[in-house]
Amino acid sequence: MEQSRRNLLKSFTALAGASLLPSEVQSQIKAGSSVLKKGDPIDLSEFINLYDFEKSAESKMTKMAFEYVASGAADEFTVKWNRQALDTIKLNPTVLTDVTKLDTKVSLFGHQLSHPILVAPTAFHKIMHPDGELATARGASAASTIYVVSSFTTTRIEEISKVATHPLWFQLYVRDDRAFTKDVVQKAEAQGCKAICVTVDTPVGGARNRQQRVKFKLPDNVNAPYMVSLGPQKNPLTWKDIEWLQTCTKIPLLVKGILNPDDAEKAIQSGVSGIIVSNHSGRNLDTVPATIEALPRIAAKVNKRVPLLMDGGIRRGTDVLKAIALGANAVLVGKPICFGLACGGAAGVEKVLSILQYEFELAMALTGKSSIASIDSSVIWKQ
Ligand SMILES: Cc1cc2nc3c(=O)[nH]c(=O)nc-3n(C[C@H](O)[C@H](O)[C@H](O)COP(=O)(O)O)c2cc1C
Repeated sequence: MEQSRRNLLKSFTALAGASLLPSEVQSQIKAGSSVLKKGDPIDLSEFINLYDFEKSAESKMTKMAFEYVASGAADEFTVKWNRQALDTIKLNPTVLTDVTKLDTKVSLFGHQLSHPILVAPTAFHKIMHPDGELATARGASAASTIYVVSSFTTTRIEEISKVATHPLWFQLYVRDDRAFTKDVVQKAEAQGCKAICVTVDTPVGGARNRQQRVKFKLPDNVNAPYMVSLGPQKNPLTWKDIEWLQTCTKIPLLVKGILNPDDAEKAIQSGVSGIIVSNHSGRNLDTVPATIEALPRIAAKVNKRVPLLMDGGIRRGTDVLKAIALGANAVLVGKPICFGLACGGAAGVEKVLSILQYEFELAMALTGKSSIASIDSSVIWKQ
């Protein structure tokens, strides 16, 4: 059994006794190819939950890199609310249902994932770990999931796709130079990316005070090849561009950064293949609501016409369960992946994902839900 999975199993065994684990859960913990090879100096056994990575990452990253990842916009109300809103949702378990076999699989655009948890696009991985996006791709693949590569990747897609054994998606920032944008989209598709997520919540950057205080800038030896010579954007991104983008590619286009049900409807009318409910981890417009709060009304509007994903503050398996119960098909995780990368490279990324997958299995078993399809709003406690 590989190291990181064994550590997970050990920690659970210490908690509850392996005999209590549903057999499917046990086999999933044992399964998978760990990227932590024998002899690697990284000891991740002390990392029990996702918060442990953030605590440890602070001492492993430069102050500039840590502040870049950890900060939100302005007074960081939305950063806090993303967590608070998830924390205050109570669960309503059902007992005496058969949870010996858990079906955690989810299908997105024809690709079957073992768990409904993806890696969100985050910028500049080489400031977090020297192996940068290659380590993220290896870690995501070892955890059998999709990695959404940021437009601000510090490694070219062709390099990343060589090491990824599970699908990559590409996150797009549309540039004033539409020909350049089209070229980037077509390169991503040609390199095997299976979907494009166009980020629509960033017409301008947020008031990122903590980044301003540390005078954030990239080190000289790190660059973002798809975002070179980034001057002020003059050519606004509008719904017309969303229609145009779909003519540039055959792979599915998702819009990332929807908080408003009317925008979700417009996105569907524009022909998109999927929607990501996101507030950019509270990094853009402070005081917008938590995504888990925005999700139910968007889910009601979308009404299963296209896959609906959500990110923002997902740190626990119970958070994943809550998002699915309130209408998401899957969730994405951002900051914890960056901290996992900083703490342990590919193995750190894999461990972050394995912990979340495993906690999600526990949340399902303990609420009496044996399949994703059976997770509905009845799992949420109503006053
Ligand atoms: C360090 C960092 C960099 C990010 N870079 C991007 C980016 O380049 N493009 C993008 O669409 N979203 C970006 N995001 C937002 C994430 O894709 C995602 O929406 C968010 O991180 C999810 O919330 P969480 O970090 O609480 O899990 C970034 C987030 C962080 C924390």
